[in-house]
Amino acid sequence: MDLHLTWMVFLLLITRSLMDDIKTHHMDDFIKVVETIELENHAPNPLVVVRALREAAGVDTPFIQYYLGSRSDATVPHHLVIKPADAGYITKVTKHRVTVLGVEEGVVLTADGTTVALAPLLLGIEAGLRSTSLGRVRGLYPLTLTKNLGQSFFQHAQSKRPASSPVGPGGCWDSVMTPRVFTLSGVASLATEALITGGMDGVILGSHVAEHSSRPLRLSGLLKQYYNHQLSREGLDAAPALISPLRRSRFRKLANLTLLKRQIRRTVATYQSLDKDWNKEVEQKVNRTKMEQIVNEGLKEFVHSYMDCPAIVPRCMWEAEPYRGSPTLLSLPLAFLFIHHTYEPSQPCLTFQQCARDMRAMQRFHQEDRGWDDIGYSFVAGSDGYLYEGRGWHWQGAHTKGHNSKGYGVSFIGNYTSSIPPQRIMDLVRLQLTKCATDEGNLVSDFTVHGHRQLVSTSCPGDALYSEIKGWKHFEEVKQ
Ligand SMILES: *[C@@H]1O[C@H](CO)[C@@H](O)[C@H](O)[C@H]1NC(C)=O
Ligand SMILES: *[C@@H]1O[C@H](CO)[C@@H](O)[C@H](O)[C@H]1NC(C)=O
Ligand SMILES: *[C@@H]1O[C@H](CO)[C@@H](O)[C@H](O)[C@H]1NC(C)=O
Repeated sequence: MDLHLTWMVFLLLITRSLMDDIKTHHMDDFIKVVETIELENHAPNPLVVVRALREAAGVDTPFIQYYLGSRSDATVPHHLVIKPADAGYITKVTKHRVTVLGVEEGVVLTADGTTVALAPLLLGIEAGLRSTSLGRVRGLYPLTLTKNLGQSFFQHAQSKRPASSPVGPGGCWDSVMTPRVFTLSGVASLATEALITGGMDGVILGSHVAEHSSRPLRLSGLLKQYYNHQLSREGLDAAPALISPLRRSRFRKLANLTLLKRQIRRTVATYQSLDKDWNKEVEQKVNRTKMEQIVNEGLKEFVHSYMDCPAIVPRCMWEAEPYRGSPTLLSLPLAFLFIHHTYEPSQPCLTFQQCARDMRAMQRFHQEDRGWDDIGYSFVAGSDGYLYEGRGWHWQGAHTKGHNSKGYGVSFIGNYTSSIPPQRIMDLVRLQLTKCATDEGNLVSDFTVHGHRQLVSTSCPGDALYSEIKGWKHFEEVKQ
């Protein structure tokens, strides 16, 4: 080989391996790989693709086969060509496991700042696409959610050193821009936040595609539509229902406690009949009454954390600077909720990237210019559909002078002098955040809502937003 050609080959190899490195654990990169596979195989139907992805990743157990058929099953043709590099990447981002160091694998970061496990998501979509008649999707809940929940509940109840909760925890990425390593923020349960969130998306998309009228043309198209929806100026109120920021409200419409309880009981029974080891382990230790109790207690935690509470973007996701000094612990429950607007930034933020940038800007302003320890607010509401963690539930904020030890300060990003935030965003605070807080014992059940201006000489939270919160159930005039 002449020297020139050797160099060319060498450069080509380097470029190839750099390109592989460029692919991160971001949903956008996963979707790009799916698109490549669709293109190279002349755009096959989504069921063939989702099935091929699962086979490439080696996600296949007797439990999955029970619902989706085995590899030799002739009902789904599978003659897709997947390049080894793509197959390697798919395995890396799809196969779920938690390492001894607490790194969670098989999860990706989505454009809205959420982390989801791909396996339960793809299993839900596959189950939905296989359904032949409307309304009946074989294995939808077991494959996405209820096996993980059921196993986690039992493990939690029987473990000598259980995780603090049978659901969760979440975690933090090594980098939000180029995510590769996701480290859990506590002891892993068998139903981590990413498994649950991916499972909820699996239920939502699986039941959507089960209806023949809403069969997607392409898997990549379905994922983009759900995870990469761009909000228009009208914001979340004008958005379609099937987008990732509306996951929790969508899931609440599909599932309820009765349904989930029944699904878990069925799933556990099926799993026991398929996995003899697990069967023995559980049967030796728990009778029927005890089993019922374990499921009820676990489900209560799940419903509280993932259906009643709003999703709150943790500090590491918006890349917060550390707290300065030593924080003051609040003595809970508090009696007040104080409503603010940020005024500046004056524009509502419509994407995770923008809201995270706004959070960093406000923290910088509060720490550098005001000389405070941290961003002043307890929580901040973006117009992207998410709440952002400021000082959180436990640490005293700097939001309402003279009253910071008595209430949480929640601020809406934007200038609400002459317009109000989207209804869906206000409901996140008015209904979800307050229910979450009272159930958890962070707010008293007969808490009081005040606008910032009722206690401090300021126009905050803006004329328009102030007259809106005057109609909230817990709003009160200030008692002298
Ligand atoms: C809960 O879900 C079940 C099954 O889908 C349904 O029959 C029942 O009416 C629902 N209950 C409520 C209170 O919505
Ligand atoms: C079931 O087990 C629990 C303890 O695990 C025990 O307290 C209870 O009496 C048992 N009930 C029956 C009907 O055996
Ligand atoms: C806030 O909105 C009011 C009314 O629309 C406007 O007069 C004011 O200049 C705005 N302030 C900022 C900082 O945008």
